[in-house]
Amino acid sequence: MNSILVTGGAGFIGSNFVRMILSEHADCLVVNLDSLTYAGNLGNLEGFMDHPQHKFVKGDICDGAGVEKLIDEYKIDSIINFAAESHVDRSLVDPGIFIETNVKGTLALLKAALDKGIGRFLQVSTDEVYGSLGSEGMFTEDTPLSPNSPYSASKAGADHLVKAFGHSWGLEYNITRCSNNYGPYQFPEKMIPLMINNALADKELPVYGDGLYVRDWLYVYDHCTAIWKVLTEGKPGEIYNVGGNNEKTNLEVIGLILERLGKDSSLITYVKDRPGHDRRYAIDSSKMMSELGWAPTVTFEEGIVRTIDWYLENAKWLETIVSGEYEKYYDSMYSGR
Ligand code: NAD
Ligand code: TYD
Repeated sequence: MNSILVTGGAGFIGSNFVRMILSEHADCLVVNLDSLTYAGNLGNLEGFMDHPQHKFVKGDICDGAGVEKLIDEYKIDSIINFAAESHVDRSLVDPGIFIETNVKGTLALLKAALDKGIGRFLQVSTDEVYGSLGSEGMFTEDTPLSPNSPYSASKAGADHLVKAFGHSWGLEYNITRCSNNYGPYQFPEKMIPLMINNALADKELPVYGDGLYVRDWLYVYDHCTAIWKVLTEGKPGEIYNVGGNNEKTNLEVIGLILERLGKDSSLITYVKDRPGHDRRYAIDSSKMMSELGWAPTVTFEEGIVRTIDWYLENAKWLETIVSGEYEKYYDSMYSGR
């Protein structure tokens, strides 16, 4: 049986990945290390916490000795690092924690992986490390890194460290760089669930700037299958871009949400723009497709309906998430904007 250490498996993408593995791959033990920050929630793993192939451990990726202990205890053969501070807006308010978790945390995992002779280290990265595009072109794996926000700078720093451990000491690694994900269990600080949550409550939908910023959206399940493909079939030392080939402006996405929920566009409110806001992301995933035979399976039109319906059917999950701390966060970010 393969034994995988998944970090950040109580967050949005990590929990979707853990669910996929436990549902589809009977030959894997998943050790799920998560410190349960505001973004980590055991409710995301409901129904899977007691699964015989799943061991949840509350802990910090910065604790190298703790990670080494887990590697020994569960005879870990690969590590997938999802754990991160992941929200650009928060990084513009408090960048320090992004360096702690995303850079120093990755470094601690890399040291542990090297000391313990881990067979494969997969770093879950983002297309945001490439910076911003104009109206033409796409990011390829050869695009130079040019991050613009403290979040993307910290992720780029981590990517460089992963490559350096491979180059200097032969650590077998892969890096995946994916575009914007959406789907079930996404924390409503990110655009799609935030707009769904606000529209459901007939609250204003805060659109940054002119709303014509472009993102390439990928349904989270398709990101998870890409990560599995790279882990099991990727060539060591290779970087793979992952995207949906599905560019939309923020206003187009918000329009679909309003339509599905039967709400009026008068909810749209233009607010002060994010500082240094990247205009456009678009990712070329042809390497994933031609070398690993991966392709997205969910169209945006299908995925957005599935996502909205999931939030409608999981009102209790959403209610728990948006109570308490979230309210304070929302007020501090959006009041007076
Ligand atoms: P998320 O914020 O929903 O989840 C992050 C998880 O990491 C949480 O469960 C949190 O508790 C955990 N965590 C944070 N600090 C930790 C620490 N020090 N030790 C252990 N656990 C810790 O993030 P997400 O959207 O699921 O993103 C997961 C990964 O995918 C991140 O590395 C992110 O950079 C990358 N990514 C995200 C997107 C996207 O659209 N969301 C796109 C591309 C890549
Ligand atoms: P986000 O979900 O934060 O992802 P990222 O910044 O990592 O791409 O934002 C997606 C897009 O939506 C981005 O262009 C910023 C915009 N946005 C808004 O217009 N209003 C909001 O309240 C948020 C959170 C995002």
